[in-house]
Amino acid sequence: MKIAILPGDGIGPEIVEQAVNVLNALDEKFELETAVVGGAGYAAHGHPLPDGTLKLAKEADAVLFGAVGDYKYDSLERALRPEQAILGLRKNLGLFANLRPAILYPELAGASTLKPEVVSGLDILIIRELTGDIYFGQPRGVRTSPDGAFKGEREGFDTMRYAETEIRRIAHVAFQTAQKRDKRLTSVDKANVLETFQFWRDIVTDVHQEYPDVALEHMYVDNAAMQLVRAPKKFDVIVTGNMFGDILSDAAAMLTGSIGMLPSASLDANNKGLYEPSHGSAPDIAGKGIANPLATILSAAMMLRFSLNKAEQADRVEAAVKKVLAQGLRTADIFEAGTTKVSTSEMGAAVVKALAK
Ligand code: NAI
Ligand code: MG
Repeated sequence: MKIAILPGDGIGPEIVEQAVNVLNALDEKFELETAVVGGAGYAAHGHPLPDGTLKLAKEADAVLFGAVGDYKYDSLERALRPEQAILGLRKNLGLFANLRPAILYPELAGASTLKPEVVSGLDILIIRELTGDIYFGQPRGVRTSPDGAFKGEREGFDTMRYAETEIRRIAHVAFQTAQKRDKRLTSVDKANVLETFQFWRDIVTDVHQEYPDVALEHMYVDNAAMQLVRAPKKFDVIVTGNMFGDILSDAAAMLTGSIGMLPSASLDANNKGLYEPSHGSAPDIAGKGIANPLATILSAAMMLRFSLNKAEQADRVEAAVKKVLAQGLRTADIFEAGTTKVSTSEMGAAVVKALAK
C-alpha cells in the first residue's frame, strides 16, 4: 500500500518526520513517497499544489499531510497561497467528511480550561461535512438590496444549500463510524429556523432506517454548543454541516486544551483519506525542535484505521502514545511541573520505543 507524504511548511516537516519513523517501525511495511506542498510547493514549482504532488496524492491509498502556511507568503494572490493546497486536495480527492476526534488523555486533564471532572477521559468525534452549506452556496456577494426594510441599501448575502446526495453520504459515514464506537450519534442542525437544516434532519432520519443498531438523537446547534462545555462526555459521535462543524470542532478541540494532540481525517466515499494534525504550521516555533508531533502520529494511526484497514496497528500506535504520556514525557505545549520536557524528535523516538512489544 502506498502513502503520499506531504510535509508542507513550518513545523510540518519536523512533525511528519516523527510520524514516518513510527510508520516505518510497524511490522507492516508501506511504500512511502514524499512530495512538496504549500509554500514549499510554491517555492519549488510556483504552485502550492504542484501537478506531481496532486498526481501522487491521487494514486496513493492515503495521504499523510503536515501543515501549510507561512507569513512570508501572505502577499501572494489568493490562488497561490499555501492554504489553497488543502482546498485543492479536498476538491480533487472528493473528500467530504472531516473527522475530528477530541480526546483528553487523563494525564493531560490539567491542560483544559474546564474542570478535570468535566473533561478527564473525554473521547468524542465530530464529523463535519466539507463540500456544502453556506460556505459554497451560490449566489453570494454584495449588492443593492432588492427588497425588505433596507431596500436600496448595500447588503452582503450568502446562500445556504445542501443537496440530498451530500446529506446522505455524510450520514452514512456518521452511522458507520458510530457503529464502530458506542453506537450513539447526535445530528446537530438548526431545523427550527432553517429550511436547509429541516431537510438535513429529514434525510438523516431516513438514512437512520438502515442503521437500527445506532441510537440517533437530533440537537439544535445552540443547545449542542451549550452541552459541549457543560457536559461534553455525554456525546460520542456528532455529525453536522460545514459551518456548524467548523465552529463546534474548534470548540471541542479547545476542551482538551492541547492543540498539539489532536489528529484529523478527511474521507471520500471509499474511505480513501487525507490525514493531518488539527493545528496549522506554527511558524512561530518552526525549526526550534519543540513542536508536539503527537497530533501527526495520531493522524497516522487514524490513517491505519480508516484508509488502510489496519486497526490492530492503529491500536498499537495509540497505545504507544498513551504509554509515553504515562511515562511523563511532554513537549513544551503540554509541559507541567513534575513531568519531563522533551523535544520533537525525543517524543517521536519515545513513541517508536513504546511500540516495541
Ligand atoms: P497554528 O495551529 O499553526 O498555531 C497556533 C498556536 O499553536 C501557535 O502558538 C503554535 O505555536 C501552537 N501550535 C500549533 N501546533 C503545535 C504543535 N504541534 N506543538 C506545539 N505548539 C503548536 O495556527 P495559526 O498560528 O493560526 O496559523 C499558522 C499558519 O498555519 C497560518 O499560515 C495558517 O493559515 C496555517 N494553517 C494551516 C492549516 C493546515 O495546514 N490545515 C490549518 C490551520 C492553520
Ligand atoms: Mg476552523
